[in-house]
Amino acid sequence: MEKKIKNSFIKSKYLSNKHLNYFDVYDDLFKDYIDKDITFVEVGVLNGGSLFMWRDYFGPKARIIGIDLNPAAKKFENDGFEIFIGDQEKPEFWNDFFKQVGMIDILLDDGGHTNNQQIITALNSIKNIKDEGLLIIEDTHASYMKEFGNPSDSSFINFAKKNVDYINYRFPNIGEVKEIFYRNVFSIFFYESIVCYKINRMFCKKNIPVKNQGENLKHKDFRYGDPDKEDTLNELKRALEIYE
Ligand SMILES: C[S@@+](CC[C@H](N)C(=O)[O-])C[C@H]1O[C@@H](n2cnc3c(N)ncnc32)[C@H](O)[C@@H]1O
Repeated sequence: MEKKIKNSFIKSKYLSNKHLNYFDVYDDLFKDYIDKDITFVEVGVLNGGSLFMWRDYFGPKARIIGIDLNPAAKKFENDGFEIFIGDQEKPEFWNDFFKQVGMIDILLDDGGHTNNQQIITALNSIKNIKDEGLLIIEDTHASYMKEFGNPSDSSFINFAKKNVDYINYRFPNIGEVKEIFYRNVFSIFFYESIVCYKINRMFCKKNIPVKNQGENLKHKDFRYGDPDKEDTLNELKRALEIYE
């Protein structure tokens, strides 16, 4: 039977606070990592309930790491989890963290949910995620909530929408290259309240036009109508004038 994250959530011996729709997203994103030798990091431990959920779901081969500001989280080291105490909003924390831990497969941010925390976490972890790995920012509904100073131009969700442009700028000569997205992020998935960056450097190349060796039937391009008809030619000329 197919494994479902919701069953692992129900079974967890400590409290976890999630949202119902997230389970379908997790199943969609995580199914290929079950029983694999992965390093999974979650920002936000609180009562530890999600750590036990991930252990049950991914299985014993997974290295599961929790990050929290609250030193009480250290308690879960006794259960086989690695725990780091620190502030996700500080780039120095991330430098130190990745120096100790090395490259990881998945980072899930369920920490403080402020714009800066989410943006700094994303910018500092992307380069440290392996090819075919994932960066997931959860609770992005915070980008629409007053208590997080939103909606605002500097919300996480606006940052993520802008990142879409940087992916498209791999098409030549249409925009400003941003190295971190250009070189590392293959695609970005938007779900309700969750954004997922798929990391794969092999697919982050500049785009180039290509042709196969098939026969050219010299069919006309009808995008402006039939080019042999008088009025179509005029329309085409007008379109080109506008373009120039
Ligand atoms: C929503 S709870 C985590 C819930 C947990 N993942 C679960 O599913 O049960 C958020 C946690 O993030 C921690 N946190 C808040 N701000 C943080 C920060 N700047 N850096 C690291 N952890 C932070 C809090 O201490 C709290 O334990």
